Amino acid sequence: MSRERDLRLDLAELLRTHAAGPGADLRALFADPRRAERWSVEIGGCWVDLAKQALNDDLVAAAAELAGRLRLHEALEQLFAGEIVNASEGRAALHTLLRMPPQAAIPAGLVQHHAGIQATLSQMEALAGRLADAGIEVLVNLGIGGSDLGPRLVYEALAAEALPGRRLRFVANVDGNALEAVLRHLDPRRSAFVLASKSFGTQETRMNALSAIAWMRAHGLDKEEVAQRLVAVTARPAAATTFGVPPEHVLGFDEAIGGRYSVWSAIGFPLVYAFGVERFRALLDGAHAVDQHVRTAPWERNLGFLLALVDLLHRCGFGHPSHAVVVYDERLARLPEYLQQLEMESNGKSVDAHGTPLPFPSAPVVWGGVGTSVQHAFFQALHQGTDVVPVSFVAAAHVEHSLPAHHDALIANMAAQAAALLRGRSYAEALAQERDAADPAAIARARQRVFAGNRPSTTILLDRVEPRTLGTLIALMEHKVYLAGRLLGINSFDQWGVELGKEICGELLPWVAGGAPVAGFDSSTAALVERYRAARSR
Ligand code: F6P
Repeated sequence: MSRERDLRLDLAELLRTHAAGPGADLRALFADPRRAERWSVEIGGCWVDLAKQALNDDLVAAAAELAGRLRLHEALEQLFAGEIVNASEGRAALHTLLRMPPQAAIPAGLVQHHAGIQATLSQMEALAGRLADAGIEVLVNLGIGGSDLGPRLVYEALAAEALPGRRLRFVANVDGNALEAVLRHLDPRRSAFVLASKSFGTQETRMNALSAIAWMRAHGLDKEEVAQRLVAVTARPAAATTFGVPPEHVLGFDEAIGGRYSVWSAIGFPLVYAFGVERFRALLDGAHAVDQHVRTAPWERNLGFLLALVDLLHRCGFGHPSHAVVVYDERLARLPEYLQQLEMESNGKSVDAHGTPLPFPSAPVVWGGVGTSVQHAFFQALHQGTDVVPVSFVAAAHVEHSLPAHHDALIANMAAQAAALLRGRSYAEALAQERDAADPAAIARARQRVFAGNRPSTTILLDRVEPRTLGTLIALMEHKVYLAGRLLGINSFDQWGVELGKEICGELLPWVAGGAPVAGFDSSTAALVERYRAARSR
């Protein structure tokens, strides 16, 4: 263990030394005329350009050597073989098995699991067909976190291609505004609800499910009609049937599928309903292609590894605190939020998998938005703020709308932002744009019009926004997170950090709802609850 820790410290030192040395001047790295070619990799319609990151061959070689000594390949093989990689919960992480095609060679110990996955896929297809045949036109996914974001991301990306007469809606938040905003537009007889919860115990989802049931009853549906409009997707099927979901409407998945890695599982059921099973399989195929790539490509050309290395370089080498994901495609608006959960819930930790404090920073704050709109919001700070924020730009080459000039303008904007972040503008250049370079006001203005430049970005260009490329993109990010986590010594598959707030909410809720005050809270929390109670009773 201490040997591993020493190797991780060596890696952090390597990253710091690189950041202060050859990586410090990103623009200088472009002296190599082959840079763009060297640092871009394409997998199945997903082109990733890392040239505007401070990578060079020496860094990658040294990091690959340390990765070898940290047994990173073995870590990947453990994942694919279904070994316990989530030690604190005693579980494997089987998301890659979900996208193994039927004809693939399955590791001996996972053959049964894989057969179960294929059977569930058939069940998903059949159930989707039955719901459509029964006149269901809107499927409402009630789920939160990993039981919401994956299907929501993919649905919103592909919504224009939904099968005729089939729509999805999503409610995650316990905020009644969220549920009512959806229910308001529904015909209860043409709607059904998917209760998506791995644990089947999540407050938000259970509450939304109960309110949706009450709403159906209030609209005159009898118990049987309500039951026929419920589907459960869960790793706890018994809890779902106890709740009142008919057994033939319960779709299962394994405890070894983490919420934020679950879009490939029965959690993707709404996608099968909306797009058909073939397109869901294309999503899985895109992800499987990445699994193959990450498993077999040498680290020097391995996108999972290179993306992880870039992230670690930002955090541990340069100390950049956050990472912005900016999508230049309205259909991908949900991607920043999706990646925020994937990365921050997986690697936002202060101790390693042995419980020892990390000697270096872990996951950045992941945030972002949709270009070009955000160019008129936070890009000011990206270009001239005191923090350097690495950016991931994501767009698609082909679009389905009929306004090609708009698309050219969109992509020109994205390319310009990345180029501007890199190039910057010197004081001399800014001053040269002034009419009177001796005028004090012009000098002050020129100083404010300086762009430091040298700011890193990654560009991901999909051929098209389609199931296969989406699968590729999402799986790439999963592997990046896993490999970064293993390099840092983190267990990326647990999330103890979400527990405390849930526990305290359980203690506070009776008081908030009008019960007796609960002792032991700080005065600020007590004052909030009392003020809320007083306001509610007026
Ligand atoms: O926020 C914690 C979390 O456990 C996520 O990891 C998970 O995706 C989400 O809650 C929903 O959990 P469940 O699917 O069990 O309802």
